[in-house]
Amino acid sequence: MSSLPRLQEAPGKGQCGPHGQVVEKVETVEWVSERVETVERVLKQVETVEQTVGQVETVEQTSERATAVQDGAHPTLISVKHVSRIYSDGHNGTTHALDDVSLIVRLGEFVSLIGPSGCGKTTLLRLIAGLDQPQSGTLTMQNQPITAPSHERGYVFQQGALYPWATVEDNIATGLKARGVYHAQKPRVAQFVALVGLSGFGLAYPHQISGGMAQRVAIARALINEPKALLLDEPMGALDSFTRIELQDKLLDLWKEFKSTMVLVTHDVDEAIYLSDRVVIMTPRPGRISEMIDIKLGRPRSRSSPDFLRLRAQILEKLHLSGSHPEPEFSI
Ligand SMILES: Nc1ncnc2c1ncn2[C@@H]1O[C@H](COP(=O)(O)OP(=O)(O)O)[C@@H](O)[C@H]1O
Ligand SMILES: [Mg+2]
Repeated sequence: MSSLPRLQEAPGKGQCGPHGQVVEKVETVEWVSERVETVERVLKQVETVEQTVGQVETVEQTSERATAVQDGAHPTLISVKHVSRIYSDGHNGTTHALDDVSLIVRLGEFVSLIGPSGCGKTTLLRLIAGLDQPQSGTLTMQNQPITAPSHERGYVFQQGALYPWATVEDNIATGLKARGVYHAQKPRVAQFVALVGLSGFGLAYPHQISGGMAQRVAIARALINEPKALLLDEPMGALDSFTRIELQDKLLDLWKEFKSTMVLVTHDVDEAIYLSDRVVIMTPRPGRISEMIDIKLGRPRSRSSPDFLRLRAQILEKLHLSGSHPEPEFSI
């Protein structure tokens, strides 16, 4: 950068300035020179910032940078690095369900994965759960490789997947039974029935309760093991909009109460913004993470606030779907 011209001499008080004006304030040559140097320094800084802004950061760099900033207060819980998952259709055909996906989920964070059908959301969630293994890349929880399912990672399926032959209480108890702690912890079952707002329905069978109630049972069944992470695959995807909104609030209450980490798969933009600290946008063929958006709105959130609507428009645009919804929001 060329240096700015220096003033040789500043006029004294009462003398005429360069344009004939009477000078009210005395400025010494040193003082003016110092100011010019300051301006030069600032201009240099602006130049550096312009160069930095010009560099495109990868999703992984963004995620790692954010983690580095937040480390300590919010250490990494789950780390997904360069993960690829290819399915074979059995006829020499293959599907790149996930291609070089990296993601960090911090302790206590509420993260939503959003994207159109087939972009690999369920595949990624199943890998995090340990229900499946990638062809390449690594997945860890608190630096331990994820190689199999664990009660430390609760999983809620899209349709609840309750045992039809078991009551609400017995469905919730299956988590404890799987760990061999049922007899010691039996009283907690009734507590969890109440916790998800199903008091009085403990002895009901799945066919006797509504879809929203069934999802509450599925959430209680996962939460009773006090998992470090709760992984939810479109748990509200099949619910009517009223039940869905009610369950979203219930989920937030549970998230706060258990200080749990939640990873939610959804294709509902409003749901993602309403619930999450961060929205991860995925794109299909091959399944990749295209963007991560921090949701810095306070809670409780208003679905009609200008900030909410601005984020909604921004995410829809990222999904290249502005003006339309990615998929039917729910089916009745
Ligand atoms: N078990 C499987 N065998 C073969 N292809 C699969 C299997 N599971 C998922 N896929 C394919 O992988 C892609 C991603 O699927 P999925 O993770 O279920 O997407 P999403 O949950 O985002 O809808 C899709 O093209 C799907 O058809
Ligand atoms: Mg899915």
